[in-house]
Amino acid sequence: MDTHYKINLSIVLFIFCSMTAFAQPAMNDQQIEQKVDALLKKMTLKEKIGQLNQLKGNYSTDIYEQNIDLNEAIKRGEVGALTPYTNLDQMKKWQQLAVDSSRLGIPMLYGADVIHGYRTIFPAPIGQASSWDMEKIQNAERIAAVEATAAGLMWNFTPMLDIARDPRWGRVMEGGGEDPYLVSQIARARVRGIQGDDLSKPNTMMATAKHFAAYGRAEGGQEYNSTEVSERTLREIYLPPFKAAQEEGIACMMNGFNAINGIPATANEFLLKQVLRKEWQFKGFMVSDANSIYELIPHGYAADKKEAAYKAFTAGSDTDLWANVYMEYLPELVEEGYIDEKDVDASVRKILTYKYKMGLFDHPYQYFNKKRFKKEIFTKAHQQASLELAEESMVLLKNENHTLPITKKTKKIALMGPLVNSREFKDLIGNWTGFSKPEDAIMLDQGFNDVKAKDQEIIFSQACEAWGNCPDALMDEAVEIAKKSDFIVLALGEQGYNSGECGSRADITLPGNQEELIERIAALNKPFAVLVMAGRPLVLTSVIDKIPAVLYCWQPGTMAGEAIANLVFGKKSPSAKLPMTLPYALGQVPIYYNKLSSGRPKLDPTDKRWGLNSWSDVPNEPLFAFGHGLTYSEFEYGPLKVNKTTFGPDDTLEVSCTVKNTGNYDTDEITQLYIRDIAASVARPVKELKGFQRFSLKKGEQKEVKFTLTLDDLKYWNDKMNFDVEDGTFKIMVGPASDNVQEVTVELKGYKSSFSKNVQ
Ligand code: BGC
Repeated sequence: MDTHYKINLSIVLFIFCSMTAFAQPAMNDQQIEQKVDALLKKMTLKEKIGQLNQLKGNYSTDIYEQNIDLNEAIKRGEVGALTPYTNLDQMKKWQQLAVDSSRLGIPMLYGADVIHGYRTIFPAPIGQASSWDMEKIQNAERIAAVEATAAGLMWNFTPMLDIARDPRWGRVMEGGGEDPYLVSQIARARVRGIQGDDLSKPNTMMATAKHFAAYGRAEGGQEYNSTEVSERTLREIYLPPFKAAQEEGIACMMNGFNAINGIPATANEFLLKQVLRKEWQFKGFMVSDANSIYELIPHGYAADKKEAAYKAFTAGSDTDLWANVYMEYLPELVEEGYIDEKDVDASVRKILTYKYKMGLFDHPYQYFNKKRFKKEIFTKAHQQASLELAEESMVLLKNENHTLPITKKTKKIALMGPLVNSREFKDLIGNWTGFSKPEDAIMLDQGFNDVKAKDQEIIFSQACEAWGNCPDALMDEAVEIAKKSDFIVLALGEQGYNSGECGSRADITLPGNQEELIERIAALNKPFAVLVMAGRPLVLTSVIDKIPAVLYCWQPGTMAGEAIANLVFGKKSPSAKLPMTLPYALGQVPIYYNKLSSGRPKLDPTDKRWGLNSWSDVPNEPLFAFGHGLTYSEFEYGPLKVNKTTFGPDDTLEVSCTVKNTGNYDTDEITQLYIRDIAASVARPVKELKGFQRFSLKKGEQKEVKFTLTLDDLKYWNDKMNFDVEDGTFKIMVGPASDNVQEVTVELKGYKSSFSKNVQ
């Protein structure tokens, strides 16, 4: 064989190998079903239950102890999935054990939390939601999936779709805020990004909608607390994002740690069977939350592990995340006749189906590809995508007299505060970034130095220690620096770990004595701006009037410093809008824009009469409303038009208005459409978001923004718990924020009269 031939052969072999590695032989659903049937027939009961068991890689924590010889358990076929947190070599070794040393050679799934990026970290989900930019959110998830799959993961425990109306709850940062419509759109974008168009491709992975359901309604915002929620509110507010994820073809859902109306979500048959399986016909699988099956015991819902396994499984939790309770007790529960083996088969079937769909049986090692690991993680293109989304995620709450951006005329800029260059507590990068490298993140000092003009000087001062403690000596030093500067930028807020799981706070003002620092700087009467880094809406009321400009940055991710500097120096205009209300006072919480009216509504904030739906000590209004957000430009909204003021059930209502950029910056605007059903079989919210559009307008440019509404957009869960609507009057409202809309009134006629006995 000559060399030439050898080379050709190796090229052919390479192409063949890459084809088999990257283009899976397509198997249709029927073929998969046959394969699963055949495999199930060969499996022992223990092997079946093994498929429902997910363990941790070689780590334990205080809460999740795991005293199991992992290698032996894998060899016995008792581990269906792993949460690895290790390198590719070790991941591959474990997979080899499953494939080569277990009796049936069934490959394992590797799943973990990649919440806002794997190594290239995007803004925290609440920041992403503030962009209202579905394309960029989808792209961020696509990139996260490319990186995560290059690092051996094939199953992502995201997106978190918990609606959150209580900013005390720490996990607000992981979600899309308070509105079911916005979060549903985000759910679709994120599922598309993670799962791509074909799960068998080695750069797509399964997504998990979590936490099913209403975990975000934890009483008092206290972590892991229970939830009381009416069925209507559950269906109308908390469930729609999950339904949207299901319609988008999500593979998996995860239940929550909370009890709902007394029954833990992990064993809640109404949710897991009635809603999810019977009504929605969800075909994917339901994983428990971490250890949550075991936790039915401290919940007081099961006397011991056996009862916990019984209750979780029979309620509809298919797989057990980290508790090992199914492995321990399902075999005897089946043998003793408490559980029918056919039901075990049904759950196993779902897991095996996804293992086939992902091509794992043919290519169990396709995710452990070192070349991809080297090439596809933290690329320049990924960092650029993170930068662009970060720029779109920060909300300009206030900007008196165009305080921002800092212009070239301003020469000496003081940049100070505990969050200027702190990597320690995931402050800028954000919580839930287990695979990130702290050194990757661009801190504010670097970003400012890179973006400023040559003749501008940036002077840094820390001013405070970690956790917002600003001792006199540090503050004095900062004030002296501020005195000698032309402009002061304060980087304040929460540490990364102040939010996220177990990051609930009862006091949601700026931690420590950061407010004092604001007051001392304000007293200098110099132009200044505050950058707020936070995983939740904070109460800023006592300082807001003293600050000329506030940019709410959330947790911006890897490119934080550069993105913030680009906005502060006006290379880009802010364009984000709040996906969650910023309260005026903690006592208003829970506060959200889509509240129900009252029999005694307070329609005019200045109305001081007795007997109105109000507080006597604070206003009804929040500090900043849902949907609020400024740009460096100005927009003028033309009159609101509808194509008909009376419409029937088959009609399409066309709603439009012109939006003109009348300011001095090219930027994006996000126009929002809300409705209100004036009289219905149950009281309806004063506003409900039903559409939004994000678009770019150059200065001087205008655009006609158009929305369409159909009968389905008006439907709600009526007094008979049917999703329907009756004839009547509706307000249609359009504007740049929920508290800044124009309205028209339209009439639905000829569908169902609210006087008819037949209204179901
Ligand atoms: C969280 C889940 C997460 C799981 C695995 C739990 O504590 O509630 O959201 O997916 O841990 O890390």
